[in-house]
Amino acid sequence: MKALSLNGVTKAFGGLVAVNDATFAVETGAIHGLIGPNGAGKTTLFSLITGFYRPTAGRVELHGQDVTALSTSLRARKGLVRTFQGTVLFPDQSVDQNIANGLLAASQGSLRDWIIESSSYKHARQEEVERLLAFSRLTDLRHAAARDLSHGQQRVLGIAIALAAKPKVLLLDEPFTGMTASEKDRLVEMLQDIRRGGTTIVLVEHDMRTVMRLCDVITVLNFGRVLTEGTPEQVRRHPEVMSAYLGTAA
Ligand SMILES: Nc1ncnc2c1ncn2[C@@H]1O[C@H](COP(=O)(O)OP(=O)(O)OP(=O)(O)O)[C@@H](O)[C@H]1O
Ligand SMILES: [Mg+2]
Repeated sequence: MKALSLNGVTKAFGGLVAVNDATFAVETGAIHGLIGPNGAGKTTLFSLITGFYRPTAGRVELHGQDVTALSTSLRARKGLVRTFQGTVLFPDQSVDQNIANGLLAASQGSLRDWIIESSSYKHARQEEVERLLAFSRLTDLRHAAARDLSHGQQRVLGIAIALAAKPKVLLLDEPFTGMTASEKDRLVEMLQDIRRGGTTIVLVEHDMRTVMRLCDVITVLNFGRVLTEGTPEQVRRHPEVMSAYLGTAA
């Protein structure tokens, strides 16, 4: 079963075709890498998958259902959740308050205000905050203001907030950027745990060592087009992948 299927997805910004006829699928339960040089169209593709942008042409399916015309929030309710390339947090609020905000945001539209304010719901929410703090290994930092965390810890908190929405498919845009080696190791384990919990992951990442050790399948984008797709080993050996990266670095 495919978690995601893209068929001919295209996005033009005026004369610039940022994503050009992208066709590929993501298997349910996979960690699927999406790589390519700067400006290849990776973030734009995430925005098309999640509904921040409407495609100029093409179709996006989530678990076999056409979601191309659905809003971002409807797609989120179906389990399609993203993180952003930059860190998006409430910087002055504590770590646990940020996670609680994520839970509240995720429940909006599915629960009425009076349920949200009922004590049994508050209790359940508190338990979920505890679970997410422990899962992301942020329990010891729960009372710290988000802005006082290290860059890497802020990224992990961003993922914990995304997990509050109980994603079936989680799209991560460069989560490893700016992390220390040990923070990277910990995030690798966390993503493997998330996948073990049944969530499909699509990972945009420039850190090739991490992409290669984490992903089952990798799709390579170049100038908005799918250049190739395969296992990490196949992609590593593909001659055009190397030249695509060198070409933009020159
Ligand atoms: N809203 C927009 N309006 C116009 N052009 C855009 C817009 N968003 C992206 N682009 C252009 O589309 C192309 C793809 O950009 P995108 O951000 O998707 O690349 P990327 O693969 O995520 O790059 P990076 O690795 O640097 O994050 C770039 O040429 C970019 O300048
Ligand atoms: Mg990007």
